[in-house]
Amino acid sequence: MSTGYLYEPLPDIQAGRRLHLNENTAGCSPAVLFAISRLTAEDISLYPAYERATDRCAAALGVAADAVLLTNGLDEGILTMALAWLPRGGTSEAIVVEPAYGMFGPSARLAGASVVSTTPPPGLGFDLDAVRAAITPATRLVFLASPNNPTGAVVPADGIRQLAASMPPGGAVFVDEAYADFEGHSVIGDVAGTPNLVVGRTFAKAYGLAGMRIGCLVAQPAVIRQLRGAIAPFSVNVFAAAALEAALADRGYVEWYVSQVRASRELLYGACARLGLPFWRSAANFVLVRVGDAPAVRAALGARGIHVRDRSAAPGCAGCIRITAGTVDDTKACVTALEEVVCAGRR
Ligand SMILES: Cc1ncc(COP(=O)(O)O)c(C=O)c1O
Repeated sequence: MSTGYLYEPLPDIQAGRRLHLNENTAGCSPAVLFAISRLTAEDISLYPAYERATDRCAAALGVAADAVLLTNGLDEGILTMALAWLPRGGTSEAIVVEPAYGMFGPSARLAGASVVSTTPPPGLGFDLDAVRAAITPATRLVFLASPNNPTGAVVPADGIRQLAASMPPGGAVFVDEAYADFEGHSVIGDVAGTPNLVVGRTFAKAYGLAGMRIGCLVAQPAVIRQLRGAIAPFSVNVFAAAALEAALADRGYVEWYVSQVRASRELLYGACARLGLPFWRSAANFVLVRVGDAPAVRAALGARGIHVRDRSAAPGCAGCIRITAGTVDDTKACVTALEEVVCAGRR
């Protein structure tokens, strides 16, 4: 039953370790706090200008500034893409490559499109043929994520190129790269040669700015102009713009955090192997694990102060929870709790 929300809100968890939303569990760089503390009363009284933050973001991503649109989190970028690209009138289709991030379908529906969901292949990887088979003359948009959420699987760049080439006239491919910072796979380099490719990024994950709400879309300048037609003029606030500049400048912090995440993923793989739990190797800051009774395991971990996400309702993910790989300290606590819960369940 619909609750009236675009996206079902999750319980507000304050105590314990938050390993359910793939946030940065170490917090943002101290340089971000310093940059925010330097904002003046006048900065706050004026509508935000974020050309400089856009320039810095474009430079960090290796593209020209007119190929970037900053957004109020990547969720706004996804919605902007849907509103800008999907014609009104209910005759267009948007393909959502499942299992998928939860904002794709609702955003496409809100824009008036019909959503076509692909059936995940057995290993939950990317099935180019299945996505191509779902394309019809009415297809305007394909939404996919690489690395994907909730699997952590990277979609091969070649598959994305072939998909973009297979689209009917007016059709575009949206690649959500929310987690690209953790292993560096990206198709941003293809944007200059692919007019119907749009890439989304967020600074909520590796950069630890989830509370700031800052992300961006990367596309050819003509596409960026079209996307601007579907976004409010000052959707990125002064705090977020200042935070982004400072976060991008502190490379050392991001590199440190990425190394924590990689070590944490290995700890989680090791625990799953010892416990005999199937898991998916991930290029992101989370690991999908098949635990069996996912709601019960989620609740038992929650009772121990370890909050993970039950993803068992996602297509192909029956029995699965998703665990954020944050700092090694958080992950060690999670592994201890997981061992207790799984072993208690087997007694
Ligand atoms: C694949 C994917 N895209 C986008 C987002 C949202 O990003 P933001 O917090 O920048 O809106 C998330 C957050 O979990 C995500 O998993």
